[in-house]
Formats: sequence, C-alpha cells, structure tokens
Amino acid sequence: MIGVFDSGSGGLTILEALHEHMPDQDFLYLGDHANAPYGHRSNDQIVDMTRASMEILFDAGCDLVVLACNTAAAIALRTLQQDWLPKAYPNKRILGVLVPMVEALTGVPWSQEHPDRQEQKNRSILLFATRKTVDSGSYLDEVRKRAPHVTLHQKACPGLVDAIEGGAGKAPVRGLIGGYIEEVLAACPTPEAAVLGCTHFPLVKDYFRSALPKGVELLSQPEIVAASLVDYLKRHPEFMVAGNGHIRLLTTGKPEDVTMADAYLPEKLRHFEDHRDI
Ligand code: DGL
Repeated sequence: MIGVFDSGSGGLTILEALHEHMPDQDFLYLGDHANAPYGHRSNDQIVDMTRASMEILFDAGCDLVVLACNTAAAIALRTLQQDWLPKAYPNKRILGVLVPMVEALTGVPWSQEHPDRQEQKNRSILLFATRKTVDSGSYLDEVRKRAPHVTLHQKACPGLVDAIEGGAGKAPVRGLIGGYIEEVLAACPTPEAAVLGCTHFPLVKDYFRSALPKGVELLSQPEIVAASLVDYLKRHPEFMVAGNGHIRLLTTGKPEDVTMADAYLPEKLRHFEDHRDI
C-alpha cells in the first residue's frame, strides 16, 4: 500500500493520476484537514504536522509515502528526510512532488545540480502556488541551478486553497484565478508554459486554462508525478506491493465536515473516514 498525503484534499489530484498509472496498487490517502491550509502556517508547524501525518501513514502499513503537497514538500521534506526518517523509520521512504516537477521543467535529473550545458533557448514559465511555496524560493533555486535559461515567474495565489476546500462556487474561484493571471501577465506577458504548483489547483485547471493566453502550455503536475513514481518503482520494486487497486481516504478532520468541492471531485474520491478508525 502506497501512502499519499496532503494538507487537505488537493493531493487527490495526484492520487487520481497515481491510480490511473498504477491500477493494481492499493493507496491510502491522508488529508490533514484538521490543520489545513498549511499555506498560513509557520515553517515549524508545517514540519510538525507533516511528520505527524507521516507517522499515521507509516503506522497504518505504508512503506512509501508521496508527499502530494507542494507547500509541505518545499518546507518540510528535506528536514524530515535528513533528520527524522533515518532514525525513526529507516526502512520507509517519503517522496515529494517538487523533484519530479523541477526535473520536468529543466530536463535535468535531480542529481545533477550544476550540469554542463550548451547554449539553450530562453524559456519563461509561470508558476502558480501558495504564498508559502513561493516565499520558500525552492522551485526558483532548484530550477535556476540546473537550467539558468529557464525563468520562472512565480505567482502566489492567496485564498485559492481556502476557496476550493470551502467548496466556493464557480464565479468567485474564476474571479480569483483571473486576478492572479492578470497580475502575473503584467510582469511576464508572453510565457511559454504554466505550472500549477499546488496540488489543489488542478481541481480548477479549466479556469486557469481559459484565463491564460492561447498557446500557453499547462504542465500537469499529477501526470508528471505519476510518471516519475512509476519510474521510481521500477528502480525500487521493494516498494511495489501487489494489490487490487483499492483506495481508502482518511482525514484528521471530521469526515462529515470535509465538504470540499463535491463539484470538483470524482465520486470515488469524496468519501473520507476518520483516521483513527484505521
Ligand atoms: N495542496 C497544497 C499544496 O500543494 C496546499 C497547501 C495548503 O494547505 O495551503 O501546496
């Protein structure tokens, strides 16, 4: 069973793609709805909350967890991987969503921080994310090291995670997205591509697509992360456990309060259980 974690319901976009790419794997999803959104929290809180959620998933039997939250990956992943995991759960692994995205944006493997590169065509790419992810500078630094010809124009999207989690209607969500895009295009009028660097945002990707200028490629984080996990499991078959495509959704919040966006989610990804019932 593979664990998938997000602060709330955004990671379901990643889970959906993982299930499509690996239909025989069983997945256990945990949304930390009791503490979401993480975008408003301090770094220490994000590390503590992410660690607590990893413990729940590991103790429930997951040997590998996908941290399907850009904010937690940007703020907490390195600390947990280096300072906590080797002592607390030496045989378990946590993979984030940032590494596959940086590899896809740069075309450079993560292990090559400073590749020798020939002259490359300059590219401008928009990155929409939470304020916390943007302020961490993680995407910016990792992309710049590997591909100086790629310019990322980051745009924080305050309020969007709250609106989606709260099940806000079409019009306010469209309005928010239109505003972010207008602002970022003022700084970067001719981007080639855009990345939704928050796992909640693919739930409303159609609104991003229709507000972006025609011809701007919208890179799909769920697809990129799923392809990367398939590749990882080929190299680490010890984490691939035969299953039957079963998905179970847990929440740290009250299942009846996880109102999130029925409209944005497929039926099979709407029914959460209390994490204490596992
Ligand atoms: N889905 C999380 C992300 O990818 C949302 C962050 C939040 O809880 O603010 O960043």
